[in-house]
Amino acid sequence: MGGQQMNVGPGVAWIVGGGSGIGAAVARELADRGWTVAISGRRAERLDEVAAHNPSIRPYPLDVTDTRAVLATVNAIASDLGRLDLALYGAVAAVGTPPGYYEPEKFAAAFDVNFLGLVRALDPLIEVMGRQGGGQIAVIGSLAGYVGLPRGGAYAASKSALMTLCQTMRVELAPRNILVRLISPGFVKSELTSRNRYRMPMLMETDEAAWRIVDGLVRSARFEIAFPWPMAWMMKAARLLPYRLFFWLSALTLRAR
Ligand SMILES: NC(=O)c1ccc[n+]([C@@H]2O[C@H](COP(=O)([O-])OP(=O)(O)OC[C@H]3O[C@@H](n4cnc5c(N)ncnc54)[C@H](OP(=O)(O)O)[C@@H]3O)[C@@H](O)[C@H]2O)c1
Repeated sequence: MGGQQMNVGPGVAWIVGGGSGIGAAVARELADRGWTVAISGRRAERLDEVAAHNPSIRPYPLDVTDTRAVLATVNAIASDLGRLDLALYGAVAAVGTPPGYYEPEKFAAAFDVNFLGLVRALDPLIEVMGRQGGGQIAVIGSLAGYVGLPRGGAYAASKSALMTLCQTMRVELAPRNILVRLISPGFVKSELTSRNRYRMPMLMETDEAAWRIVDGLVRSARFEIAFPWPMAWMMKAARLLPYRLFFWLSALTLRAR
């Protein structure tokens, strides 16, 4: 499966986190390419703003920490729109965890949205996609989840958890014709990054990131869509370093900002 070309025609997509940032830009890009796109998030007014772009975008307000609401939303989309070909999970909780402090409440809040929100959607999605003969589940992780760096906190830890879960699911769900994808962006302009007070190297425009994601999802079956490539390769290389060298370099980044 890895690396092979494919061409997925327009179908029905569901984007969790579709009311802003990367998710909203992906919704617009997919709709412009002929897809019907359901978008979810807590703020109905933000979903309506995105839906105003194209009549093929339909708002489904949802808080992913509510297990029953997640099940009801997946079923409502499948029933209203007839099927569900692509689910893109990109909800993220803006929880800051300062370096050196590991407050359980903050970690729980971050994992509840970033990681468990996806898990809540999985069984319902697998049920719907299994019934229709297959589909795609794509998850927005982050290059921040590749290795544990200072200041990574709950955010990077939750992204690492998403990455390993996607690796597991990729093989486990293949027999059911469900293609699992991982999206690993570097820095992209969004509500999330507008809060960052530090320098963000290679900061990418939101629409550019969305274009790369959509193109990767519809034109190839490869597991990971990672960008920008210089940063992706740097992070991949960091995983191969011996720990002594890795921690020496890592300590430099703590002092750098
Ligand atoms: N921007 C970057 O540099 C970057 C880099 C790597 C990865 N990513 C990932 O890309 C994805 C999109 O992030 P973004 O940068 O575009 O930030 P964003 O604009 O803040 O988008 C996050 C979305 O998550 C939704 N959300 C938060 N809590 C939720 C909840 N409980 N239930 C349902 N939806 C919820 C928010 O909508 P509501 O507040 O209305 O619920 C919002 O639309 C995230 O997974 C993020 O980690 C971003």
